Formats: sequence, structure tokens, C-alpha cells
Amino acid sequence: MNGKNDGRSPPPSRGTGPTAGPPGGEDEDEGAASEVDGADAPRRPIYVLEGNTLHTRLTRELGLHYPFVNAGMAFVALPPLVIAVSEAGGLGMLGAAPEPPPFLQARIQAIRAGTKRPFGVNLIVASGGGQDFTTRAHIDVCIAEKVPVVSFHWGTPPADWVKALKAAGTRVWMQVHSVEAAREALAWGADGLIAQGRQAAGHNRSAVSTLKLVREVRALAPEVTLLAAGGIADGPSAARALFRGADGVWVGTRMVASVEAHAHPGYKQRVAEGDAGDSDVTTLFGPEWPGQPMRVLRNRVVREWAGREARVPSPPPAPERIGTARLFPGLPGGDAPYAMPKFCSFPPTADTEGDLEEMAMPASGASMARIESVLPAGQIVVEMMERAHRVLANPIGLDAEAEEDDRG
Ligand SMILES: Cc1cc2nc3c(=O)[nH]c(=O)nc-3n(C[C@H](O)[C@H](O)[C@H](O)COP(=O)(O)O)c2cc1C
Repeated sequence: MNGKNDGRSPPPSRGTGPTAGPPGGEDEDEGAASEVDGADAPRRPIYVLEGNTLHTRLTRELGLHYPFVNAGMAFVALPPLVIAVSEAGGLGMLGAAPEPPPFLQARIQAIRAGTKRPFGVNLIVASGGGQDFTTRAHIDVCIAEKVPVVSFHWGTPPADWVKALKAAGTRVWMQVHSVEAAREALAWGADGLIAQGRQAAGHNRSAVSTLKLVREVRALAPEVTLLAAGGIADGPSAARALFRGADGVWVGTRMVASVEAHAHPGYKQRVAEGDAGDSDVTTLFGPEWPGQPMRVLRNRVVREWAGREARVPSPPPAPERIGTARLFPGLPGGDAPYAMPKFCSFPPTADTEGDLEEMAMPASGASMARIESVLPAGQIVVEMMERAHRVLANPIGLDAEAEEDDRG
């Protein structure tokens, strides 16, 4: 697609085609939603069906063809995946691991060399091993490189980072796990929110299902750009999120099982074969970032330690080393082998060697239930969005299959 809009200026105005929107007052997927005042479905159209595409606040803000964003996934969402998603008409989101700022800059430049379309960078605000994963130097790289969107996860970014990014014209998004976290993010000035439901893969402390959280956050902030994250892996699940008030979808597990993801082939295969009940939230993993809840595939090590996570000995039991990774492949100095310690929280990537049954493989059961095979990322984007378009064109049918699969 290689369009000209860099996401920092509004897209050309579009005519209005046939429109459809969620009917007001719908509340059929979870009875508990009515506990939240005003959390009914929005009463005005959030999405507009036009030709073969779907327009929302998100597509208009960034000049996208589809309201689709791949989740920022450290070590997995590298430039090839970002480029593929952006070129397909979505927003590619780079997963910036705790990599040195010059490496981040090189990755952003690789994305720019591959697409003229808008993209984003995801940064984790936390520290582990005595090191802050994101620093002011990372922010300065994003500003210097004129990154259209920076999304944050976990901790609250310092006010001076937010101010500097916004002053440079970068949109600042925050992944939130609760209405309270959404309120806080709006208070510090987030331009966009990613509602991470409990089904979501990876580091996740949400206790609320994705659609319920979407509806609650939408009620809290009718005008904010809102994405839905967790269990969205096909057209119907994407349609439901838009129907409940999201402006777009933020998709992780489905994109792990894409050709361009920098995930190990055995990890991709397990995701394609996995089902609704095949993930768990555990605090088992993470000498690098201890004690954090993470939704992962239930493999051998997760099964072995289920319910005993707090009793993991320090130092960990043998084997002390479960494999070898290359943390920042393709970058000068980044190819050095990294000995993965037992309970390492880094996912197995394309160039990891070792026993995958010992490793942390972020994945959502709700998403895996909807994934059949490893496909090119662009094909996933287009097929998911076109199917969502068809489902939304007949939202009566959507009502009938509105049950949310929140088994994780
Ligand atoms: C392999 C993997 C790595 C992830 N790493 C990050 C990350 O670095 N930053 C982040 O904000 N979220 C990360 N997440 C969580 C996603 O942002 C998102 O919440 C989740 O994937 C949505 O649920 P889904 O997997 O069912 O689509 C990761 C998810 C996966 C699958």
C-alpha cells in the first residue's frame, strides 16, 4: 500500500457511506456490566462502514485503512511485522524490549525504510535487574525519529516524557487494565487507551473481561481513542469489540502466529494448535522482572509449578540454563548469545535454541481458540477486518453470537 500519510497529519476527508453503529443500551454479553453506571453501549455510531473498509476515530486520526493495531510485543513485534501490518493498512507497533536507545533508533529506521505508512513504538515502564526498561533517552529517540504513536505499558510514564512527546506531535497511548487505571491515564494526558482485558496474553493484571472493560472505559471517556486488547483473533471477535465502543483492536496472540513475527517456529505452532483452555496466568517467570503476572501457554514448566510459584527457590533449581537467545538480533553487538536462566521471562524467538517446554510463551487461550494456522501478517489484518466489516453490516447476527469467550 505504501501510502504517503505519515500519521502525523489528518487523512484526507472522506464522504459518508452507509453507516452502522451499535444500538443503544445493549448489554447482552455479561450481566455484571450493569453494575457500572452508564456503561451501556454507546448511543451513536463509532464505526462507519465504507466500501470494503471500516472507519473509526482511530483510522481518521492516523490515516489508516483498517482499525487494526498489532500489540507491541517485546522481542516478537520487530520491524518485519510492523512493516507488514502498516503496509496492509493497519498500524504496526514495534515491541521495544529493554534495548539500548541506539538499538531502538536502528529498529525505527528499519521500519521507515520498509514503509511510508504510520507506525508506533511500545515501551514498558518498569524496572528489573536494577535497570529501568525505558529511559528518557528512549523517549528522545522517538522524538528525534518523529514516531507517530508511542504506547506505554505497565507503569505511568513521567510527566516530562509525556509533555515532550506530545509537544513533538507524537500521540501517547496507555495500555490499561481497569477503569481506575484508565482514569489515571486520562488525568496525565493519554491521547489513547488500550483496554487490556483478563483474556490478554503477556504481562497482564486485569480482572475484567475485555468487552466489559471496553464498555466501562467508553462510558468513562466517550471521546477518547480506545482500543480493545485480549481475545481478539478473528473477524467476529474484532466486530464485537467495535460494536461495544472500541475504535480499534490491539491484537497480540494472533500475530505471534504470523509469518513475520520474530517468534520461534515451535512457539507459533503451539499457538496455532492451542485452544481456549491452554493458557494460564502465572508469576513463575522473570528473574529479569520478578513477580509479575503473565498469561502464557500452559506448557510443562507452567504445569509443574502451578500453585507453587511463590516457592520457586533462589537460585532456581537445575537446569540453571534453559536455552540460548539473541536479544537484539541483526544489530551490531546485539547478536551476542544470551544464556536464558531457568524461568527466563523472554519468549522463544526465531533464533532461540533450547527446550520450549521450559520457556515463557505469552498466549491467550481465548485467542488461540480462534487461530488455526500461521499466516502472513498482512493476510491476517485484511481477512480479520473484512470479516469484521461483514459481521458489523448485520449487527443483528452479531447479537446472536455475542457471548464473549473469557476463558483466557
Ligand atoms: C508475545 C507477547 C509479548 C507481549 N509483550 C508486550 C509488550 O512488550 N508490551 C505490551 O504493552 N504488551 C505486551 N503484550 C501484551 C499485549 O499488548 C496485549 O495486551 C495482548 O497480546 C492482547 O491479548 P491477545 O494476545 O489475546 O491479543 C505481549 C503479548 C504477547 C503475546
